[in-house]
Amino acid sequence: MKKQPYKVQLEKGKNYAWCKCSESINQPFCDGSHNDINRKNKNVIKNLIDINLISDIESANRLLAIDYKEPVVFAAKEDIEVSLCGCKESDSAPYCNGTHLNN
Ligand code: FES
Repeated sequence: MKKQPYKVQLEKGKNYAWCKCSESINQPFCDGSHNDINRKNKNVIKNLIDINLISDIESANRLLAIDYKEPVVFAAKEDIEVSLCGCKESDSAPYCNGTHLNN
């Protein structure tokens, strides 16, 4: 994962999906990799339920603190160059807010 922002040119009216899971090979944009991560998490939970270690999906999500990663979808309101977050810790995602400077 890159610990710095990506400077990208956005096109007015175009939709973008910013990668939140860090696994996309098309950073900072989503390539669908989050689906594999979410599928693996669901398989782990299913196995835990199957062997009666956990009773249901909601309990598993809470106990394991599973955070299902979905991309942040947004539309560009103008043609503009922006800094999209590369560290995945910005509270202003998809935009860099300087949090990477603290890491
Ligand atoms: S890259 Fe700057 S806050 Fe994430």
